Amino acid sequence: MDYFTTTSAASRRASGCLIIGLYESGKLSAAASEIDAASGGAIKRLLKRGDLSGELGESRMLGSIENTRADRIVVAGLGRQEKFGVPEFRQAVGAAVTALKGCKTHDVVNYLTLEDVKGASAYYLARYTVEAIGTGLYDFEEMKSVRRNIKTPIRKIGVALKDAGEQAAASIGAEHADAIVAAMTLAKDLGNLPPNVCTPTYLAQTAERLARQHSSIKTQVLSEAAMKRLNMNSLLSVTSGTAEPARLIVMQYKGGTAREKPVVLVGKGITFDTGGISLKPGPGMDEMKYDMCGAASVIATMAAIAKLELPINVTAVVPTCENLPSGTATRPGDIVTSMSGQTIEILNTDAEGRLILCDAMTYARRFKPAVMIDVATLTGACVIALGHHRTAIMSNNDDLAKSIADAGIAADDRGWHMPLGDEYDQQLKSNFADFANVGGREGGAITAAAFLAKFVEGLTWAHLDIAGTAWRSGSKKGATGRPVPMLTEFLLRRAGALP
Ligand code: BES
Ligand code: MN
Ligand code: ZN
Repeated sequence: MDYFTTTSAASRRASGCLIIGLYESGKLSAAASEIDAASGGAIKRLLKRGDLSGELGESRMLGSIENTRADRIVVAGLGRQEKFGVPEFRQAVGAAVTALKGCKTHDVVNYLTLEDVKGASAYYLARYTVEAIGTGLYDFEEMKSVRRNIKTPIRKIGVALKDAGEQAAASIGAEHADAIVAAMTLAKDLGNLPPNVCTPTYLAQTAERLARQHSSIKTQVLSEAAMKRLNMNSLLSVTSGTAEPARLIVMQYKGGTAREKPVVLVGKGITFDTGGISLKPGPGMDEMKYDMCGAASVIATMAAIAKLELPINVTAVVPTCENLPSGTATRPGDIVTSMSGQTIEILNTDAEGRLILCDAMTYARRFKPAVMIDVATLTGACVIALGHHRTAIMSNNDDLAKSIADAGIAADDRGWHMPLGDEYDQQLKSNFADFANVGGREGGAITAAAFLAKFVEGLTWAHLDIAGTAWRSGSKKGATGRPVPMLTEFLLRRAGALP
């Protein structure tokens, strides 16, 4: 994708498509009123006819308009002007993209950036524009025998600026967005691929391909035999029911100095979660192909930072396998010794994410992490607590939790800081092993984090439960690419790469 910024008046800008807006009150956006004036009231005439809506989330494609050089104009509803902030701006641009879908336009220029968007700089307005358009155009057609030919051939995105002084920051915003969109696309594709295609081996090959594309990334893939030698019995207990081989993927990105300790990202990569012997109910089980979205977001974030050549060191560790029932599967009641030496009573084989993460996190200690962040579709309880809107953030360090939450706000990929504590830890007590892998239904997202906390002694660590945010169900079923924006923003900030 190519980008440009423009300071020319909307009516004078030659392009395939312009995005302008209308508030609920009937007030036109700055560019809409300029076009209205240039065209002798064309927009107001449509408004009078009742053809345009200012409702947020609505959009209307107009053809060309007299005395305006663009081939098409999309009018996006902006809602209430006094409420027009970042989420509203993104929703309006997203709605404009919906109107654009299927149009054979090669470029689009967003003029909504001339509005007063509460708290947003030129950098973020350019970034949100490119992100909203890039992610709005996403389609997953890889598995269709005949692909619908509706791909919108947009190759250039323009961002209107109030003054030329904003150009440098806006260009950086567009460039960052480009990397974020590409990473989100990769994360979505990996999530949406069926579990018979996106296997642990496929994830490993994806990580190896990224290492071939970027000399700054080194990828290493550990086999089950290697994991056995490392005493990863907790991880291996999850894969024991399936014929599909498990993998431990390690990606190292070196953009910082040799001495700088890395940020370590750990992503849950269950490519299909049946629950194992503690079998899940049938309805909706297909969605457990998304149980590798933590892995996908971590691998994709590595691609984003490599593309941006961020001056920072980041290591990704991805434990990946299937959780299937069979005659060789782990039984409820089995006790395993994790790589850390701590013993775990597996009371429920469906609480498998924490079992693969704990060994991966113990392994990751060898990289001497400055910070460790694990990302996982870990608990149904998290969806009950926060719905599909926010990622749960748990941490043994409040400053780290806050910087992740702040990054989520800036990237419009929000989280919420949840507690940890000894009370929750008590719920994991086992009569027979050091602790159990489940702590009952109450506070299930937090007891899962409390389990992981037993493996990060002495480390600065945060856990992201993305069970509610990684994909959508129903007619819009599909991976969201979250939390790639949150993670990338966190790393952009850490690398000091924001203007
Ligand atoms: N992958 C699931 C969590 C999940 C469930 C995510 C539904 C999104 C939607 C995880 O492996 C799991 O099964 N967790 C159990 C834990 C329980 C047995 C303590 C759960 O949430 O039911
Ligand atoms: Mn499970
Ligand atoms: Zn799972």
